[in-house]
Amino acid sequence: MDVLVVDHPLAKARLSTMRDARTDSAAFRAALHELTVMLIYEATREAPVRTERIHTPVARTDAYRLANPPLLVPVLRAGLGMADQAHKLIPEAQMGFVGLARDEETLQPTPYMESLPDDLSDRPVFVLDPMLATGGSMEYTIRLLTGRGATDVTAICALAAPEGIKHLQDSGLPVRVVTASVDERLNDSGFIVPGLGDAGDRQYGAR
Ligand code: PRP
Repeated sequence: MDVLVVDHPLAKARLSTMRDARTDSAAFRAALHELTVMLIYEATREAPVRTERIHTPVARTDAYRLANPPLLVPVLRAGLGMADQAHKLIPEAQMGFVGLARDEETLQPTPYMESLPDDLSDRPVFVLDPMLATGGSMEYTIRLLTGRGATDVTAICALAAPEGIKHLQDSGLPVRVVTASVDERLNDSGFIVPGLGDAGDRQYGAR
């Protein structure tokens, strides 16, 4: 499984703002927006393009567009904070939605909504979720997608735990991960260490 760590100084700076416990909700959301732009930019670096001929005011030239724009799938709640920025970068993309809440005791994802196209064969999918912790939520989401025929899934995460990466690797699912950091570990409560706390709570308040 490919894991791309976006190790750019600006990505590190935005992630540091998100990590800092003194950062308030508005500043946290702003930093996540900006980090999302960088993650999407890197995730699409190798995306196939199609060309067409256009006229500039001066001459004819080639114009480029994504040949097959990805379906964007934010995982609610926390992934909502990445959705608008991803959509601004790829305005032609469609968007689907998955709602999951991780049980604080068992750490298992509990689904509460999904809204996805029926047929995802031949369509790349970008799943947007700031956190890859145990990997249970991402695995659940990817299984929803592969059940609809998806074979090309990218998990876009602000940060990841090694346990979550291994979980996805062991699952054998067709996924690559794009993240700004693979942190040290999970603690006994299932939080990423050093991490940033709970990305949903930090954006929207505690549930
Ligand atoms: C968090 C996070 C991921 C999930 C990661 O969401 O946004 O979706 O947990 O954990 P996992 O890899 O161990 O499954 P949470 O369930 O807290 O919901 P929220 O986004 O509504 O805050």
